[in-house]
Amino acid sequence: MPRPIEALIHRDALAHNLARARAAAPDAKVWAVVKANAYGHGIERVFDGLRGADGFALLDLLEAERIRACGWRGPVLLLEGAFEPRDLELCSRLNLWHVVHCDRQIDWLAAHKTQQPQRVFLKMNSGMNRLGFSPAAFRSAWTRLNALPQVDEISLMTHFSDADAPLESSRGIGHQVAVFEAATRDLPGERSLANSAAILRHRLRSDWVRAGIMGYGSAPDFPAHDIASWGLQPTMTLRSRLIATQSLQAGDTVGYGSSYTAEAPLRIGIVACGYADGYPRHCASGTPVLVDGVRTRTVGRVSMDMLAVDLAPTPAAGVGSEVTLWGCGPQDSVLPIDEVARAAGTIGYELMCALAPRVPVSVVPD
Ligand SMILES: Cc1ncc(COP(=O)(O)O)c(C=O)c1O
Repeated sequence: MPRPIEALIHRDALAHNLARARAAAPDAKVWAVVKANAYGHGIERVFDGLRGADGFALLDLLEAERIRACGWRGPVLLLEGAFEPRDLELCSRLNLWHVVHCDRQIDWLAAHKTQQPQRVFLKMNSGMNRLGFSPAAFRSAWTRLNALPQVDEISLMTHFSDADAPLESSRGIGHQVAVFEAATRDLPGERSLANSAAILRHRLRSDWVRAGIMGYGSAPDFPAHDIASWGLQPTMTLRSRLIATQSLQAGDTVGYGSSYTAEAPLRIGIVACGYADGYPRHCASGTPVLVDGVRTRTVGRVSMDMLAVDLAPTPAAGVGSEVTLWGCGPQDSVLPIDEVARAAGTIGYELMCALAPRVPVSVVPD
């Protein structure tokens, strides 16, 4: 018998969440962001659920080849553009649109031999300070690009650092929007500004929105909002089963480092899931988990292949009982990935991206 752990990718939930992005940005075209192997879900596995998007935005050429191999003929955007000059050859061959964020990339385009002019997204650094031209340099970059026969259409983009910040805080998107608008005022071209947090929280008008994490059923501004309040559904379930139970007496401890001590008699279950499956080791005792769809908590340290859970809320549970580490459980129960991420001091993005290769994954419905 195989080890009972598995991950499920929920195709209908992907389509549902994409529809939520459309509803929140009704006038915009939607990029489904599938970088990092579709946030750990697998590009090929999410393709059917997300094929209603207007385009796929991703990071590198291998991912672009994979989305084309799925049969996608529509727009594909390389979010960081070319990493070296020969990347532009594949952009021509696969008809990829690409971000231009620095002068070097314009130099490569100027030297690129192609019959087919390319569509580019010129990126402004409006305050994030990762990639992009400064507002002062943006117009001259646009003018340079516009003069190149290798370039067809130029769209304008920027990326927000604080779209998830509390609305009353001084951060947020206001200063970046103002900088972007001032520096692009009379430039033609489509605009792309919003990521998930901006799509859901700030009703900005732009031609293209870039929906990443919301598509995968995680709230970009958790805990201010959870997926239920944004109308999102989990797209990844990590589930396993109990492979043993133990009856503790008061004073007994659990796992490495004896970090948990029972204060009274307690039945616990041992789950076939550990940090080598991608479950975060930093989850302390008390992290939420579902046993047979009933909410309980972890006890003791997470080890490589196992973790322990409190069975007090589920006295009938025993070896073979279903354990939901995150996602959808039996009887319509749900454990949002954001809650587990929070217990690990991280965000849903990291947990989904870290699903370990040893975990078997299937798409439902298949
Ligand atoms: C440039 C860019 N656009 C859009 C996204 C999608 O962001 P999110 O997953 O928060 O929606 C990302 C993700 O980091 C990004 O780097």
